[in-house]
Amino acid sequence: MTRAPGNEAEHDTRRARQWLAGRARGEGVHREQLIALGTAMGALAAAAGEADPPPPPGRPGIPAIVKPLDPGLLTGYGANAEMRWEAMSGQGYVVPTDRFFVRNHTRTPLLDRDTWRLRLFGTGLRGTPTRDDPVEFGYDDLTAMAAEETTALLECAGNGRHHFAAQQDQPMPGVPWGLGAVGVARWRGVRLSTVLRHAGLTDAAVDVMPEGLDPDYVTGGVNLGRVRRPLPIAKALDDVLLAYEMNGRPLPVDHGFPVRLVVPGWIGIASIKWVGPVEVSATALFSPWNTQFYRMFGPGHPVDGEPVTTQVVKSAFELPWDARLPAGVDVVLRGRSWSGNGPIRTVEISTDDRDGWRPATLDPRDEGSAWQRWTAVWRPPGSGRWTLRARATDVTGASQPEQAEPNTLGYLFDGIVRHPVTVT
Ligand code: MTE
Repeated sequence: MTRAPGNEAEHDTRRARQWLAGRARGEGVHREQLIALGTAMGALAAAAGEADPPPPPGRPGIPAIVKPLDPGLLTGYGANAEMRWEAMSGQGYVVPTDRFFVRNHTRTPLLDRDTWRLRLFGTGLRGTPTRDDPVEFGYDDLTAMAAEETTALLECAGNGRHHFAAQQDQPMPGVPWGLGAVGVARWRGVRLSTVLRHAGLTDAAVDVMPEGLDPDYVTGGVNLGRVRRPLPIAKALDDVLLAYEMNGRPLPVDHGFPVRLVVPGWIGIASIKWVGPVEVSATALFSPWNTQFYRMFGPGHPVDGEPVTTQVVKSAFELPWDARLPAGVDVVLRGRSWSGNGPIRTVEISTDDRDGWRPATLDPRDEGSAWQRWTAVWRPPGSGRWTLRARATDVTGASQPEQAEPNTLGYLFDGIVRHPVTVT
């Protein structure tokens, strides 16, 4: 399915052409250098089995994630935390904020709403404002503009990475997410396109690069600067939101207070939190987050890797890992499936390796939306260990294979997850 204007692969190819024509740049280094560095860093990180370095120190007594990490709702990994899937049992369509996953490259910064400024600059704006003399908007300026609300799914590109190791004996560096680095929330804010136009957008603009105000990301002894990733102007002008509310409340600090991007349909890294500077450029932009990370490296992939574009198909049961279930009575198994390509068309489940697959019942309220709730009734025949499996197929026909395709940084796990349960 073509996802104009969200097709990042096409955009990447176009950027590469612009590079070759000498019309793009990335922090003053050549694309070849960035890619060589990226490949080397990817290989290095893989060899070291390295995840993120420990978060840099913040204010005394303030943890890297500020919200309480209730162990019944979230599993913490230092500066990151994933939702426990059983915490969605009995919940509605959206994920309550207290259990929404957090992905921090470093730590949650505490910013002051009143002194915070969105600072736009670059050759794609009228008069070419500079980084030191940008076009500025305060929080009240944004909230005074026409507001929009969208219900969008956010998912980390590495969601499911743990299962490369657990099911395929292919350990990958990075946060060992189970399936909980995903969530749907109601976001309210102002369209990025509205702000770009207020800032003096010109026809020459090709890329927009938002930067986070969290600490610089230092890995392997190299300071890669602020978390930032370019968006093509077509996507920036489409459905991207500068969000200041999540699920009806001001954005929580861990999720980007005071303002973050929400980039529907794109992998989570595109949705830059704590946004401050925004470069609007008449030439293509690069950052380590689209050269070194978020590309598919490794055997079977080109040396400079394919860009990680939209997400793959996944399914999860709303059950604890190794749940206890009663024998001989009907149990309603609940779960959700989702895909970056578009809505889910079918979901099948299997309760035993010897069993075939049978259809789950899709909740009609979710038809055509970001994720699909489903149920299946199962009467466990007897006590012992059982393996539940769910596999979904989306509108494009993409489904979930037995084995996900490995890649050095462990992105896009789409394999069928084997969920153990004990029947007593
Ligand atoms: N923005 C900044 N400034 N710093 C970050 O570490 N992480 C990104 C993205 N935006 C990140 C960021 C990644 S990888 C993801 S998956 C999402 O934020 C996670 O958003 P959440 O923490 O609100 O769930």
